[in-house]
Parts: sequence; C-alpha cells; structure tokens
Amino acid sequence: GTQGPLKGRHALVTSGPTHEPIDPVRYIANRSSGKQGHAIAAALLQAGARVTLVSGPTHEPAPAGVTLVPIETAAEMMAACQAALPADVAVCAAAVADWRVATPSGQKIKKGAGGPPALALAENPDILATLSAVGPNRPALVVGFAAETEDVVAHAQAKRARKGCDWILANDVSPGTQAFGGDSNILHLITAEAASTWPRLSKPDIGTRLAGAIAAHFNKD
Ligand code: PMT
Repeated sequence: GTQGPLKGRHALVTSGPTHEPIDPVRYIANRSSGKQGHAIAAALLQAGARVTLVSGPTHEPAPAGVTLVPIETAAEMMAACQAALPADVAVCAAAVADWRVATPSGQKIKKGAGGPPALALAENPDILATLSAVGPNRPALVVGFAAETEDVVAHAQAKRARKGCDWILANDVSPGTQAFGGDSNILHLITAEAASTWPRLSKPDIGTRLAGAIAAHFNKD
C-alpha cells in the first residue's frame, strides 16, 4: 500500500531457509517454511512500506506488491540484501545455514568403496551482523530473530549484543514447539532496554504486531 504509518519507508525482510549445495542434487537445509518472514513482509506492506523480500526456497507465495528476490544460498542472500540497500528497516527472519559445504562437488557424489564422504564445512557470512554493522548504509532499525532451545531470553540478549542489531525476537525452537513450520509462535521482543513476552499469536498477527512496533518507533517524535 502507499498509505499507512510506514509510507515512504523501505523495508528489507529475509525469510525461509537457505540451501547449501553438497553436489548438483543434494543440499543442507533446515525446517524454516517462510511463513513468518512472508507474514512480516505482508504486514509491513500493509502498513505502507515498500518491501523487498529476500527469500530462500519456500512454498509460501510472495505477498502481492512486495519485491521478491529469490535466492538459494546464504552467500546469495547476503548479496541480495546488500543490493537492496538502502533500507529504513531490516527484519531478518530467515533461518540462514550457519555452514556451507566448503567445496561442493561438481558431479553427483557416487556411493563407493571408500565409504560415506566426509563433508568439510565452511562458515557462512552473517547477514544480520553485516546489516547491523555501523556504516552509511546501516538501516535505522535492524531487527533479528533468535532461535534458541534453552535459556531463550538470556541467550537472545547475548545474541542481540553480539550481532549489533537493535531488536531481537526470540523464540523457543525445541522439538514440539513447532516454531519452525507451524502457524503460530510465542516471541520475546528484546531491545537494549527491555524484554517483553508476547502471547501466542498467529504468524500473520505477529507480523501485524511487529509492523505496529516498527511504525511506533519511526513515528515516536
Ligand atoms: O519460517 P518459519 O517456518 O515460519 O519459522 C520461523 C523461524 C523459526 C525460522 C523464525 O521464527 C526464526 O527464529 N528465524 C531465525 C532462525 C535462525 O536461524 O536463528 P539464529 O538464532 O540461528 O540466527 C539469529 C539471527 O541471525 C536471525 O535473525 C538470522 O536470520 C540471522 N542470521 C543467522 C546466520 C547467518 N549466517 N546470517 C544471519 O543473518
């Protein structure tokens, strides 16, 4: 939309998993469905922002009106995010693979007498930390997620400080929570000043609530 409290703002959203190739037919991935990131993109659009959605492979349709940049790997997500700057706000909801296969095979790896292949891994670039680094292109507000399985708030507070983002939305991704792939979630919004726990909300309602908090932040004075 072109009206709304975020009119004139550009929002960059990451969503979904990344796929890191092992060989031409195999990859490393995770259980992110893209439901959350896509819902955030839709809500920011609804609030009047221009939205660039950089997404890994998902079955979620891109909300009509957002600019979708489809990518597969973390390296591609990083390049697409940097190409989308400047942005007023960035929301990193993607479940980016922390590691990629250091040297993907150009040919399908064969089963053979040597036994299973050993996959040497290399660390992927951190998109949230890179977007959060101070510089002329830093979005005024950078929002990350934290996927944790224990001490959720404490770990997320440490992650917020380490990555340099402004806000983090922390979620418990332990087995049974269905944070990955499910239709609702319980999130903790962590800022430099405070941590508050949201009730269980549908992923679209989480998008609306986050867009409202972002609009309030930009329109506070
Ligand atoms: O997609 P859904 O099925 O709807 O599920 C939603 C979700 C569970 C994926 C979402 O709620 C969520 O938690 N997203 C972040 C998942 C994650 O990878 O968290 P993390 O704690 O490993 O990473 C912390 C932050 O750094 C995240 O904002 C992540 O996008 C970012 N990151 C991580 C690694 C990396 N190389 N680059 C990054 O930008």
